[in-house]
Amino acid sequence: MKHLIDSSELTAQRAISLLDTAEEFAQLQSRSVPKLPTLRGVTVANVFFEDSTRTRLSFESAAKKLSADVITFTGQGSSLSKGESLKDTAQTLEAMGADIMVVRHSSSGAAHTLAHSGWVGASIINAGDGTHQHPTQALLDAYTIRHRLHSDQATGQDLTGVRVAIVGDIAHSRVARSNAWLLTTLGASVTLVAPQTLLPRGVESWPVTVTTSFDDVIDDAPDAVMMLRIQSERMRGSHFPSPGEYVGHYGLTEARFGRLPETALVMHPGPMNRGVEISSLAADSPQSTILEQVSNGVWVRMAVLYQVHQSGGHQ
Ligand code: CP
Repeated sequence: MKHLIDSSELTAQRAISLLDTAEEFAQLQSRSVPKLPTLRGVTVANVFFEDSTRTRLSFESAAKKLSADVITFTGQGSSLSKGESLKDTAQTLEAMGADIMVVRHSSSGAAHTLAHSGWVGASIINAGDGTHQHPTQALLDAYTIRHRLHSDQATGQDLTGVRVAIVGDIAHSRVARSNAWLLTTLGASVTLVAPQTLLPRGVESWPVTVTTSFDDVIDDAPDAVMMLRIQSERMRGSHFPSPGEYVGHYGLTEARFGRLPETALVMHPGPMNRGVEISSLAADSPQSTILEQVSNGVWVRMAVLYQVHQSGGHQ
């Protein structure tokens, strides 16, 4: 796996191997110095043309825990404002020694272009491209579900029989796309829940069930509900009558949360808008995995950096 661009490219075997490697890296938590020399001499470039809190910082933390050197590019304050292109930016970072580039961009396909254009020889990890894919988010979500269900017995397991509902702005969500493919590859059943206006074109070809009724899904007692933010920044015009109406039909309100089984996981990739797609009661409950997802992201990204490096960066 020289690059990681799209969760649909991951076989169940590869995905389980990544999750198992992440389980091994998670053992670092019990060490007084939580660091390994594995990527000593390797330079990881975080190349973020779009804003990020969790993904950028957890890739930085993951790379440093593996003893890599980290250089960071963010769109704001860069020579992007002077018209520098994606190609020239990437080649500039490679000239500074980048072996692995972790790339976030508002254009769907940007990471794929960097990986396959021949502009650079570095390994490319997609950290979110437009509305298309965010494969490490799907991996950390799968890790979180698996770890909650199987705890220390998680290694080697897939997600057969697990029922996950992904709720909200599916149309603009790279998290929904990435999870739809990865979770089903791992054996889970995925149901997408959204108003018609927030379902993507072509969703019929996704390996999922689709419904417009969140209440029906709640009554069906899912194993996990993954709540998504409304991505207003990617919208032109209004996709629902009013925020109040959206919350009434699609929010994980206190009332809907109370109807979920006590074992159901409450997930959110972040950033969340409390009081819109999720109530604070649900977000802060013991059923919530929201902060665990953030912590697990570090172990999963260590696993991805490690496996990408193993199969052929510059070194
Ligand atoms: N989940 C996620 O991608 O969060 P950030 O945008 O903060 O990286």
